[in-house]
Amino acid sequence: PTVLVLNGPNLNLLGVREPTIYGRETLADIEEACLERADTLELDLDFRQSNNEGQLIDWVQEARDSADGIIINAAGYSHTSVALMDALAASDLPVIEVHLSNIHRREEFRHHSYVSRVARGVIVGLGGHGYELALDAMARLLATES
Ligand code: DQA
Repeated sequence: PTVLVLNGPNLNLLGVREPTIYGRETLADIEEACLERADTLELDLDFRQSNNEGQLIDWVQEARDSADGIIINAAGYSHTSVALMDALAASDLPVIEVHLSNIHRREEFRHHSYVSRVARGVIVGLGGHGYELALDAMARLLATES
């Protein structure tokens, strides 16, 4: 099975961006850890980042034919994008949402996520390790549901 891991806006800046909140780990570090984890789980990984809402939506639409599940950190778009939520719902694929920080400990406007409404599960506050946990959960989901 193939898992698409999507990263939203500003996550390309991880490592230099607000390290007290997001840590020193870069997105490349997270991708590397995910590749290793996926290898162990015998999953193919498609790891991407975009700052553009439309690009993320296009990738979600394409995933219908090319992936078996989606792990997504939609970053700021989590809190704003009805369009991304609609695309995820239309994909008919299992979705697991990840946030590096615990969005519930932060500003009120981060407490609501449109992505959560269409996600099977949500992992927040565990940094880059959350992506690996999401891969574990996705492997289990795909193994038990197909
Ligand atoms: C984030 C949390 C969002 O509120 C924020 O806009 C981000 C990163 C996280 O991974 O903690 O860009 O998704």
